[in-house]
Amino acid sequence: MSSRRKFIRHLGSAAILPFVPAVLNTDKTPDILPRILKYDQERGRAAANDEDFWRLVQEAYTASPNIINLNNGGVSPQSRSVQEAQGLYSRESNEGPAYYMWRIVDKGRLTVKRKLAEMAGASPEEIAIQRNTTEALENLIFGFDLKAGDEILTSSQDYPSMQNALNQRARREGIQIKRVSIPVPLDDEEELVKRFEKSISAKTRMILLCHMINLTGQILPVRAVCRLGRKHGIPVIVDGAHSFAHFPFTMDDLECDYFGTSLHKWLCAPFGTGMLYIRKEKIKTVWPLMAAPDGEEEKIEKFEHLGTRSFPAEMAIGHAIDFHRGIGAERKTARLRYLSDYWVSRVKDLKGIRFNTSFREGAYGAIVNFAIDGMTAAEVQKELFRDYRIYTVAIDHEEVKGVRVSPHIYSTLNDLDTLVTAIRRMITR
Ligand SMILES: Cc1ncc(COP(=O)(O)O)c(C=O)c1O
Repeated sequence: MSSRRKFIRHLGSAAILPFVPAVLNTDKTPDILPRILKYDQERGRAAANDEDFWRLVQEAYTASPNIINLNNGGVSPQSRSVQEAQGLYSRESNEGPAYYMWRIVDKGRLTVKRKLAEMAGASPEEIAIQRNTTEALENLIFGFDLKAGDEILTSSQDYPSMQNALNQRARREGIQIKRVSIPVPLDDEEELVKRFEKSISAKTRMILLCHMINLTGQILPVRAVCRLGRKHGIPVIVDGAHSFAHFPFTMDDLECDYFGTSLHKWLCAPFGTGMLYIRKEKIKTVWPLMAAPDGEEEKIEKFEHLGTRSFPAEMAIGHAIDFHRGIGAERKTARLRYLSDYWVSRVKDLKGIRFNTSFREGAYGAIVNFAIDGMTAAEVQKELFRDYRIYTVAIDHEEVKGVRVSPHIYSTLNDLDTLVTAIRRMITR
């Protein structure tokens, strides 16, 4: 049977059956999952440093051989299987958009939500599909009724778009924004929690903080801050742009009620996909940014009234989750940390290098920020690209100045060896 016919058959049953990636496993979509399974069965479960295994994973992507992309924190690529799935959904939708997108393809949404919910340790009734973290978090930031004089507490290192949202509330409604400064590197989590606690006042009505800071890759003590919020009756909004699918956790682990993330980062789902989580009993406390009909006050769907959007992208999220699960969440995290440890351990003792990321156990992942004495971050970033085609990002923030390096599971040790050579040359010349 042709792949196209198989796919149509699959679409026809979408309302009742889960989306099974094998349906898309045609000659055009070399499916990595059976190969991973076979590898583990034949050779024992592969570890974070088993290069034969990770070569299989690398082949599942379509990374350019012309640059070394170490800026996966910005946005990550999709595996071939996800690209192909989105392409097929898109081609089928184009055969009759109104019919296929709304009557057929969109019916797969519940399955996608179910899979996201499983990852988050939540119920599908607590999950809304969004386009990105910005949309998810702005739904939350603008979703609470506040009045002039109320305070929102956040950190000095939260993401600029979220700062814009807070600042707009400040300009428009007279809300006060208080920012807790985060030490760099963050060696003492408890100290940070104390800073948050000290900054809470009788007027604090909302707390916003990152789970993993984009500037340094530092993982913050979110659970402790959520507990603080609960103790004082203050909603805590967690910016999980970089944490979801980077390392495993559930919403209950974080004791979190409000969480937003981008699925096009560490999950490698299609560009323009994100997720909003709100604990069931809290849904009614938040207004959606895009108006919803009466009767949906307690339903998570009230956050999905976007109008026409990319249904093919949304549906292909399910395939990214299958790929993620096929590798295994724990093993993926171990590999991401291994990649950081690999390059950092080879340069960390050089005189003249500094790290803005703390390497405490469990406090970092694939994102690391470093600086070289005597060079600006922009100079280092420029030289890495000009001389080695290594693509990174220069961070010039009040509290963090350095180059951010973020490999992903398709990155090779050879890529990182080139980075190590480049750093050594910059330091020792
Ligand atoms: C911490 C953090 N929050 C939010 C965002 C916004 O993500 P998106 O552009 O996918 O909405 C980013 C993007 O890099 C980020 O790093």
